[in-house]
Amino acid sequence: MVSFPEVWPLSPIATWLAIIAITYVLMYQYSARKLDAKEPVVVSSAVPFIGHLLGMALHGGKYTKNLGIRNRNLPVFTLPVPGSRIYVVTEPSLAAAVQRASKALSFTPIIPEVTERVLGLDKATMEITRKNLDPGPGDERGFLADIQDMVYAYFGPGNYLNEISLNAARELKSEVVAIAVSQEARCNPDLPIDLLAWVRHLVTISTAKYFYGPQNPISLDPKLEECFWDFDHGLGKLLMNLCPSVTASKAYKGRELLVKALEKYLENGHHKTGSKIVQKRVEVALQHGWTLRATARSELSFLFAGIVNATTSTFWILLQIFADPRLRSTVREEIIQIITPDEKDPHCENYQLSITNLKDRCPVLVAVYRECLRLGSDTYSMRMVRENTILADRYFLKKGAVVQIAGGVIHADRSIWGENVEEFDPSRFLEHKQQSGNTKPNQIHPAAFRAFGGGKTLCPGRHFAMNEILSLVSLVVLMFDIEAPGGGKINVPRKNDGVLPVHILEPISPVEVLISRRRDKYAEICSNVQFSM
Ligand SMILES: *[C@@H]1O[C@H](CO)[C@@H](O)[C@H](O)[C@H]1NC(C)=O
Repeated sequence: MVSFPEVWPLSPIATWLAIIAITYVLMYQYSARKLDAKEPVVVSSAVPFIGHLLGMALHGGKYTKNLGIRNRNLPVFTLPVPGSRIYVVTEPSLAAAVQRASKALSFTPIIPEVTERVLGLDKATMEITRKNLDPGPGDERGFLADIQDMVYAYFGPGNYLNEISLNAARELKSEVVAIAVSQEARCNPDLPIDLLAWVRHLVTISTAKYFYGPQNPISLDPKLEECFWDFDHGLGKLLMNLCPSVTASKAYKGRELLVKALEKYLENGHHKTGSKIVQKRVEVALQHGWTLRATARSELSFLFAGIVNATTSTFWILLQIFADPRLRSTVREEIIQIITPDEKDPHCENYQLSITNLKDRCPVLVAVYRECLRLGSDTYSMRMVRENTILADRYFLKKGAVVQIAGGVIHADRSIWGENVEEFDPSRFLEHKQQSGNTKPNQIHPAAFRAFGGGKTLCPGRHFAMNEILSLVSLVVLMFDIEAPGGGKINVPRKNDGVLPVHILEPISPVEVLISRRRDKYAEICSNVQFSM
């Protein structure tokens, strides 16, 4: 029994409350201390130690983003978490410094941890994956180093990039034309359609075809398309890895069905009729001793990379273009003026659309593309701190901690993008006429545009993605009209930022639209257009 002296002024309950309050203050102060005088400012949570992790689990990506926006004056700050730290970088030049310090701040140690959980890779495969992660010159090269080099080389500017971009554009065109025709045959053309679902289907089946060939698992079994999106939508839960077959059952089931189908695809040698890059990826995995089952899991990650961002970006781009009739006319005009008759065709019945011209001579289309990526990508570029480091001669970073460059905060920074940072305004990416009459692009720090990451994690598929998305958007803009079901302006919902941002964010609510085939000359031309580079 605890007994209290008579002079003690507080009741037992008040005493216990006081003890709890003091303990809390001490714990709070302890959790808020810096490990080093140069450590970035510590932003502590109301619940000491675990508060930030709770916040991230409950609110997804917007938790850290909101902390960053509230602490706008701090270019980097520290989030204390049990046993470690997260350093959140919110300023472009500091982001560039993180990217340059690629030896001490490395992404590679994170890859095995993430892929093991998300793809469900087995122990033996993980052992192979963890070998020689970051080889120096002359060292033996591990699987990840080999496969990354290969993917960067194939998707870098050159013949293969042109070849696969044209294949993608051709495949997308045949799907778009098929949809146009089927829409004509449908009894009720006034039925509203979920725009995101429409784009999803189009991109999913086309991507599966141009990467994996005619015998790809989704062509053979269309049910797998739904499995794919179940997998995508449960990625955050798979990553948490708390008995995923129960806590992420839909995603887990979808993934395993896809993996089984991909394994069969590989067993049957169907990848030999797929793209060169897929054939090469399979070859590299087998060389490093991966089993077919594990290789199937790795291919699921490639299919994922090919589909998800292309889908969601295309959705936002189409939505923004069709929600603004003036923008829609401008973009249509831009595309029409680069469609040219095929010179080799004496009767002028064939037309060409050059993907290079889409990028070089359609400035508004390109600006819409960039602005949709800016608004839609809230993702974090992550790095592991491999040794105690002083970043940019100023900030101490503790070994074992994680650095996150907060794309969502940088993309929402008024001082970079202007007062209307929250609005969709493609003109911020257009060259502005200066008073002097010279044209000069807006001065934006190169590391401020985070949609493709940066440094060692700069997306290898960025050129391909742009080629593909611009091709698809131009086909849809010329061949279809997209309208609000009740007439008037199409409503553009805000993005759902309450999830773990693994790709361009989806809208918070579905967008129902009427999609109808256009009847003018250019819509007709478009169904026969030949893409060129
Ligand atoms: C998709 O885009 C986001 C945001 O730009 C990026 O962080 C992510 O790495 C991309 N994912 C893939 C698989 O390319």
